[in-house]
Amino acid sequence: MSAVTVFLIGFVTIVATGITFCVGNSRVLCIDSERQALLTFKQDIIDRSNRLSSWGDGGDCCNWVGVSCNNFTGHVYKLDLRPPTPDYAILSDAEIGVYWLSMLRGKINPSLLLLKHLSHLDLSYNNFGDIRIPQFLGSMKSLIYLDLSGAKFGGALPHQLGNLSKLQHLNLGDLNLGDNSINRLVEARNLQWLSGLSSLKYLDLSGVDLSKATDWLQVTNKLPSLIELHLSACFLDNDPPPIRVNYTSLSILDLSGNYISPSVPKWIFSLHSLVSLDLSGNALGGLIPNSLQNMSSLKFLDLSTNSFDSSIPGWLYNLNHLEFLSLRGNFLQGKISSAIGNLSSIVRLDLSGNQLEGTVPTSLENLVNLRQLDLSNNKIDQVISEILQSLSRCCSDDLKSLNMATNNLSGHLNDQLGLFKSLSYLSLSQNSISGLIPISIGNLSSLKYFDVSENQLDGNLPQSLAQPMSLEYMNIAYNLLEGTVSELLFSSLTRLRVLRASQNKLKFEANSNWIPPFQCRTIEMGYWLLGPKFPTWLQFQKDLSTLDISSAGISDVVPSWFWNFTSKMVSLNISHNGLEGEIPFLPVHKLVDLRSNRFTGPLPGVLPDVATLFFTNNSFSGSLSDFLCDNKLGKPKLFLLQLETNLLSGEIPDCWLKWRGIRVLNMGNNNLTGKIPDSLGSLDFMFLNLRNNKLSGELPLTLQK
Ligand SMILES: *[C@@H]1O[C@H](CO)[C@@H](O)[C@H](O)[C@H]1NC(C)=O
Ligand SMILES: *[C@@H]1O[C@H](CO)[C@@H](O)[C@H](O)[C@H]1NC(C)=O
Ligand SMILES: *[C@@H]1O[C@H](CO)[C@@H](O)[C@H](O)[C@H]1NC(C)=O
Ligand SMILES: *[C@@H]1O[C@H](CO)[C@@H](O)[C@H](O)[C@H]1NC(C)=O
Ligand SMILES: *[C@@H]1O[C@H](CO)[C@@H](O)[C@H](O)[C@H]1NC(C)=O
Ligand SMILES: *[C@@H]1O[C@H](CO)[C@@H](O)[C@H](O)[C@H]1NC(C)=O
Ligand SMILES: *[C@@H]1O[C@H](CO)[C@@H](O)[C@H](O)[C@H]1NC(C)=O
Repeated sequence: MSAVTVFLIGFVTIVATGITFCVGNSRVLCIDSERQALLTFKQDIIDRSNRLSSWGDGGDCCNWVGVSCNNFTGHVYKLDLRPPTPDYAILSDAEIGVYWLSMLRGKINPSLLLLKHLSHLDLSYNNFGDIRIPQFLGSMKSLIYLDLSGAKFGGALPHQLGNLSKLQHLNLGDLNLGDNSINRLVEARNLQWLSGLSSLKYLDLSGVDLSKATDWLQVTNKLPSLIELHLSACFLDNDPPPIRVNYTSLSILDLSGNYISPSVPKWIFSLHSLVSLDLSGNALGGLIPNSLQNMSSLKFLDLSTNSFDSSIPGWLYNLNHLEFLSLRGNFLQGKISSAIGNLSSIVRLDLSGNQLEGTVPTSLENLVNLRQLDLSNNKIDQVISEILQSLSRCCSDDLKSLNMATNNLSGHLNDQLGLFKSLSYLSLSQNSISGLIPISIGNLSSLKYFDVSENQLDGNLPQSLAQPMSLEYMNIAYNLLEGTVSELLFSSLTRLRVLRASQNKLKFEANSNWIPPFQCRTIEMGYWLLGPKFPTWLQFQKDLSTLDISSAGISDVVPSWFWNFTSKMVSLNISHNGLEGEIPFLPVHKLVDLRSNRFTGPLPGVLPDVATLFFTNNSFSGSLSDFLCDNKLGKPKLFLLQLETNLLSGEIPDCWLKWRGIRVLNMGNNNLTGKIPDSLGSLDFMFLNLRNNKLSGELPLTLQK
């Protein structure tokens, strides 16, 4: 092996006190032919973010990004080229852009075949633009681990993969994730080839169209080592021909997102050692099947988004190994039984989106492992403090997430809320909770998401609301909150991204030179008193995509920075103020509401993707032709155009063919003259108002439509 050079960087030590004997890091340089194979592979790859920059001619390929070599032989045994996944949920556009760029594209060169000792190949979550999975992968006989998930391959799965008899882990899931073009669907007409994979422990074919592969159960059932099977969204609709299954080692089964109906296939109940069963997103109905009670090893059970419509059977609560239970999005009725306290291992419990009524039993206090509870969207009728009382007994220190939104909860929030020190998600919106927001909210130092909107909370906002420094989402909209809020309240909310606070009786007093410590994407402060001066602090919100400062008592000329201050604005509502001035251009992508202000001058230009425009009750003047005929439109997205009660004059121009999407048009109460043009009649209106103008002539025949 002349190509192998061994470097002994470390050394042998014998420590005086004993027999500690450590052999240092003997490092082996990579094999020339393998380095060459990798470089050839790289030539066919498009690497826009230069992720493979370490892959150079001279170097030791064992140090290249994504490459691992055997320390003793120098052979490449692992190639992991999955892009680094960003690990936070709220990504900025820039972060999404970086992630997108880091996906490798191009072709997969057969030079990989020269890596004779490659046992681990991960190309997942790159973007191979719908090319087929290369057949030659079936000849890489040493592969133990193959992950191509989410890497945007298309077409049929190559049967040659069935030659990989050492393979233990095969992930071909979500090959076309995020691509909803049905033509590019990956499909398999039969799965006979899988029977060659006798070492397989893990198989994921999620998203592959298996509607024609009626042998899927027979074949996978015969894989003697299979532990984990994921067939989510595989278009499985039939209860396959009844066979006696004897998956000897299966412990995780995922059949979510298929069309399985109307009842749980019987063969599943014979899998007594199953630990995880996911049947969510199917069309299962009726009773939750009794036979599940024999599957006493279950730790994870997901029956969400089906059509089960019974009450929750008592025996379900005896599955005392369950750590995760979701019955979300069914039609379950009745009360939650006090036997819920028997779910002693439960960590995450989701019963949301059903028709459960009555109260939450106090036996909740027995669920000492509970970390996430979601009972939202039910008909639970109770005083909120009782539920918090039970929870404070089981898990106040550890509960991370509590969602009780959209129920009939009443009563007050009191200081016990402050006990939940680990809470990061709290939603109580759409209930009838009244009283103050307790000062103890300041103790929730992990709180990221806080939603108490649409209740009857009143009084001042406590200054302690400034203390949950982790807060990213705050929704206090549609309550009866009142009083003056100072900029101090926001002084430590540096992570705030979403502030929804419209429809209260609050007043904001900020110094004219205040610079907010946060960069919000959404600010909704409709019905606050923000004026009479235009809030200058908004100019520092460079990420803003939704802004509502309607009915905010602002009587001022809109400063010019406002009209070009963000290219990301999607929805803008500044209606019902006394705003003045001319608007050069409206850089907003979807919705603009300027109603009831004192804007003057010609109608402003708009972006091609704007859909809803309210210009009503202003003093816009001049003719319509610049606005309607000269705007450069992409696809005509405009759906609603409200121009009534302005000072628009001149004739209605004949340019309507380019605005074919308009369904609602109101030009009433202006000074429009002349006749109604033919092209106007060719639109498909739901609502048209031309009242109170000075129009003349005949109605065009086209309007008869
Ligand atoms: C090979 O060496 C590296 C570092 O030199 C070490 O992290 C790794 O665990 C070793 N692998 C094996 C299989 O010995
Ligand atoms: C690989 O699989 C194909 C089709 O399944 C088969 O025709 C071929 O003989 C196999 N090749 C080897 C080397 O086993
Ligand atoms: C059950 O498994 C054994 C061994 O894997 C196999 O030989 C047998 O055919 C299987 N039986 C059925 C009914 O699939
Ligand atoms: C549970 O298993 C036992 C023994 O295998 C069987 O007799 C019983 O009928 C099963 N119960 C249900 C509800 O399937
Ligand atoms: C389940 O809960 C009920 C009511 O709380 C109780 O009577 C029963 O003994 C519990 N069952 C088990 C198995 O713990
Ligand atoms: C804008 O705000 C006003 C007042 O708050 C509200 O009535 C209106 O519905 C909002 N406009 C849109 C399009 O939502
Ligand atoms: C029109 O806007 C003015 C403010 O410019 C307001 O006072 C008036 O109430 C609005 N009229 C209607 C009908 O909304």
